[in-house]
Amino acid sequence: MTSMINIDKNNCGQTISKHIYGHFAEHLGRCIYEGIWVGEDSPIPNTRGIRNDVVAALKKINIPNLRWPGGCFADEYHWKDGIGPREDRPTIVNTNWGKVTENNHFGTHEFMDLCEQLDTEPYICGNVGSGTVQEMQEWVEYLTFDGESPMAKLRKKNGRDKPWKLKYFGIGNENWGCGGKMRVEYYADKYRNYQTYVKNLSGNEIYKIGCGPQEADYHWTEVMMREGMGSNEPVPDEIIENIWDYHRPEMNGLSLHYYTRNRANYTLATEFDEELWFDYIKRTMKIEEIIVNHSAIMDKYDPDKEVGIIIDEWGTWFKVEPGTNPGFLYQQNTLRDAIIAGINLNIFNNHSDRVHMANIAQVVNVLQSMILTEAEKMIVTPSYHVFEMYKVHQDQTLLPINIGSPFYSYGEERLPMLNGSASKDESGKINVSICNIDPNKDEEVQLDIEGVKSSSTVTGRVLTSDKMNAHNTFEQPENIKPTEFKNFKVEENKIRFTIPAKSVLVLEIN
Ligand code: AHR
Repeated sequence: MTSMINIDKNNCGQTISKHIYGHFAEHLGRCIYEGIWVGEDSPIPNTRGIRNDVVAALKKINIPNLRWPGGCFADEYHWKDGIGPREDRPTIVNTNWGKVTENNHFGTHEFMDLCEQLDTEPYICGNVGSGTVQEMQEWVEYLTFDGESPMAKLRKKNGRDKPWKLKYFGIGNENWGCGGKMRVEYYADKYRNYQTYVKNLSGNEIYKIGCGPQEADYHWTEVMMREGMGSNEPVPDEIIENIWDYHRPEMNGLSLHYYTRNRANYTLATEFDEELWFDYIKRTMKIEEIIVNHSAIMDKYDPDKEVGIIIDEWGTWFKVEPGTNPGFLYQQNTLRDAIIAGINLNIFNNHSDRVHMANIAQVVNVLQSMILTEAEKMIVTPSYHVFEMYKVHQDQTLLPINIGSPFYSYGEERLPMLNGSASKDESGKINVSICNIDPNKDEEVQLDIEGVKSSSTVTGRVLTSDKMNAHNTFEQPENIKPTEFKNFKVEENKIRFTIPAKSVLVLEIN
């Protein structure tokens, strides 16, 4: 049987925000320290203390935004600990992640420098769990105010004359868990209170992100949309011009955290059989139902989909690598992770009317990383390659895709074998990304796109291997990487090809 894929290029959807391809860096394990920050005196080549190799690798995937400083760390972070001369900064204990000491050498200035080096948008998560309204207000003032004020003065004293631009700001993280164990009824009021003091200063406009649900907690979303979002009513005539934000939703985005993990059966990222291959892919695909259900609740309060779902933590979560600190969440990354990344990104693209941003956890040395480091060595993971292959979708127009494929069955269960998304760029070039989740079967595909000619130029790249757990190591850094894909036939209005078992394929059609 041949699978049929149809792409409707005349019925364009919305733009796939580049921010769906965002990342996350927490003060956790070796993400910030060693993974990004090595200090100015390090023999590892760096620019003002930030690793050059990591910056160069991330620039290649067009990293659009970076979330920082956590995660759970954010709700214990007091930003004033991380400014001023480094030798004077307090050493604190990182209670969430291994109870190790944290010398605060990487703070606000270093993070904003990193974002400038990466040419990426900063996304800062503020402290609601253990911080104060004043502390949050002052951080925003420190970062963005161009006039005369105590915080602007302090920033200048610390060497930064002009304010930075800061768009994305999170009002707490996982406040249902490590961020304060709050009930949503309580957090919604906290949200309204804290966000009031997150001000737009000196022409800087903040996109405020409320703490959203964990996985399928639909009650959380209902309450946040009803109570946290604020009024969508038009401005009454008597309200004067200057309070322009009166009628805007006071919440621009609501976060959602969804990890692919099997809490009952933690295994190493590299050690699994077909049962666990299937299991993790099934858990990944569940996110689509969760997005649809949260979105339906949001539609009641926000039918125009102005408030985005911000999936600011997603990815795989496995047992840590042997001999590493369990609090550091350091795991390998295989072809299975790559396919999971491809599936998630296809789902986010296809729901980009509501999914406005996503941040895979995390960028270096933690969970489903893009990059692994060992002292001066650095390798990129199969997941990194998927982000590199999929970057063609960033800020492009979504094209509706219909996929008719057989099922991949394991035991009594089954999942659709193929998963995909498509977009069109300004020049009319179409990019299609497809994952074949079946680890055993290649699949013949007929891809129908009206207007394709036998003379059309098609190029492709595929990420696959004969091993389900193929991964890169410091000894074999290029064990798995994308290769050119040429096995297709271009005909009138269609392209025929065979997608290999367990692969991620991206086709570019001109
Ligand atoms: O990404 C690791 C942790 O997972 C984050 O700190 C937290 O927000 C989540 O539970």
